[in-house]
Amino acid sequence: MILSIESSCDDSSIAITEIATKKLLFHRKISQELEHAKYGGVVPELASRLHAVDLPKLLEEAEPYLNDLKAVAVTNEPGLSVTLLEGVAMAQALSIAKDLPLIPINHLKAHIYSLFIEKETTFPILVLLISGGHTMVLDVKEYDDIKVLATTMDDSFGESFDKVAKMMGLGYPGGPIVEKLALKGDEKKFSMPIPLQNSPKLAFSYSGIKNAVRLVVEANQPLDDQTKADIAASFQKAAIAHLLQKSKKIFKELKPKNFAIVGGASANMAVRKAFTDLCEEFDCNIHLADLYYCSDNTAMVGRCAVDAYELKKFISALDIKVQPRTDVI
Ligand code: KG4
Ligand code: ZN
Repeated sequence: MILSIESSCDDSSIAITEIATKKLLFHRKISQELEHAKYGGVVPELASRLHAVDLPKLLEEAEPYLNDLKAVAVTNEPGLSVTLLEGVAMAQALSIAKDLPLIPINHLKAHIYSLFIEKETTFPILVLLISGGHTMVLDVKEYDDIKVLATTMDDSFGESFDKVAKMMGLGYPGGPIVEKLALKGDEKKFSMPIPLQNSPKLAFSYSGIKNAVRLVVEANQPLDDQTKADIAASFQKAAIAHLLQKSKKIFKELKPKNFAIVGGASANMAVRKAFTDLCEEFDCNIHLADLYYCSDNTAMVGRCAVDAYELKKFISALDIKVQPRTDVI
């Protein structure tokens, strides 16, 4: 079995995964969402202090498995440095105390493996990764062969939902709130620009839509409930149209047989619907993770670690480094 640890942002999580069967034997997660909600976003120092309290609690729950471990895995990149350090410190201690190999895991790669929890991998696959920190299209050939085909030049898809929610005083995290509100709104009420529409560039940009929302919010003060819903719907429509437009270009070029959406924002039903239709048009299989495994969790880290274990991707406990930012997946 592998014990895996995740603390890259505001979720403390520990999992136990059986290597031979890929079965998830244990998975616990403590989300700090409520603690950060009052600040309208994640406060790194607070997050790190909460991980220091919550990770040991979760480890205690995993105690029955601790004598059967073959390795320890931990997310060490990318994420908030002070929160990554909490998980990495625990993994280093376990690896040294129990003389177990240590496996460093890239959080973005782990999101890809959210598709394969208790399943075999489907490679090659084209992946749209949409989270709070990333908006990327990835050409995934195998564990160690992942090419970034497009990324964002500024804000990420999920982050733009968080910022739009904040502008309208709706709370944090903004994704699920804006999605729910959009259901009651008129998506044609406000016209929002679709970024880079006439540019051949394979890239994303969300700062323009965010500023367009800011102008509408300022021009319609005080905001009534229907206007908020109309803004949410108009914003979400443009945000998804941008994802679709750039992805379609890649579909035309690569004609993928398998496509997936992963990351916290892949829980958005309007995104799922838009891309299910796109895949139908291109005769491509769509893969979606269970809703529970879209947001940060360690089940995906553990599943990724099983493949890493088989490839012997070990590192010494004294050499593992935390990398807040990384371009390599
Ligand atoms: O993957 P994740 O849990 O954490 C990161 O690695 O960033 O993603 C969290 C992000 C947040 O920005 C959140 O607002 C967004 O995903 N999100 C959504 C939805 N659910 C979560 N964005 C749009 N629609 C949703 N339903
Ligand atoms: Zn994530």
